[in-house]
Amino acid sequence: MDGDGFMELGHGKEGTNLMWEYQKRLQFPVNIKKPDAKLAKLIITQLGGADGEVSAALRYLNQRYVMPYPEVVALLTDIGTEELNHVEIISAVVRQLTRNLSMQEIKDSGFDSYYVDHTLGIYPVSAAGESYMGSYFQSKGDPITDLHENMAAEQKARTTYENLLRCVKDDDVKKVLEFLRAREIVHYHRFGEALEFVRCDLDCKNYYHHNPAFDKNGK
Ligand SMILES: [Fe+2]
Repeated sequence: MDGDGFMELGHGKEGTNLMWEYQKRLQFPVNIKKPDAKLAKLIITQLGGADGEVSAALRYLNQRYVMPYPEVVALLTDIGTEELNHVEIISAVVRQLTRNLSMQEIKDSGFDSYYVDHTLGIYPVSAAGESYMGSYFQSKGDPITDLHENMAAEQKARTTYENLLRCVKDDDVKKVLEFLRAREIVHYHRFGEALEFVRCDLDCKNYYHHNPAFDKNGK
């Protein structure tokens, strides 16, 4: 590995250009029968809130370019693309909870404040109605720092799913959120393994106070 994340990720190398591959199915099926706009207004925070799936996907897919360990680049790519599918799952949940609503239902559920700006389109906002901000995540260019950020982010996402689950009664919605919550736990442990891997590498070289993504030969 030569430290050039762009090349390592398989783009632009002669003979290695791949067609874009996209599977048109969700990682977990979403089949909600009963609309509930009040609930949609809460769950949309996992799209446009600080600890949501958009933040997760952008965090990992941006961090990987300077990560100096190919094993960790692969992990960031795996989890980052999975988070993109979670963006689609949350969008599908919000869509199915809000389709076919009458104007009266929109007003009664408190969804009218979202409706006036977006009708029933999907737009990343938090439960409090704040638009998504890029400053919700970091890409610091330091493997130790970024992996700590990722572990904290996965725990914050887990907590948010648990808070949402306490607000949900519909089993069709519950099982989707439970699946996503379980994935946050898996991601947390995988980033923990990656952190241990990087720490061991630094220990082996008897270095601790340098950034292997930036300092050359530990200087
Ligand atoms: Fe995650």
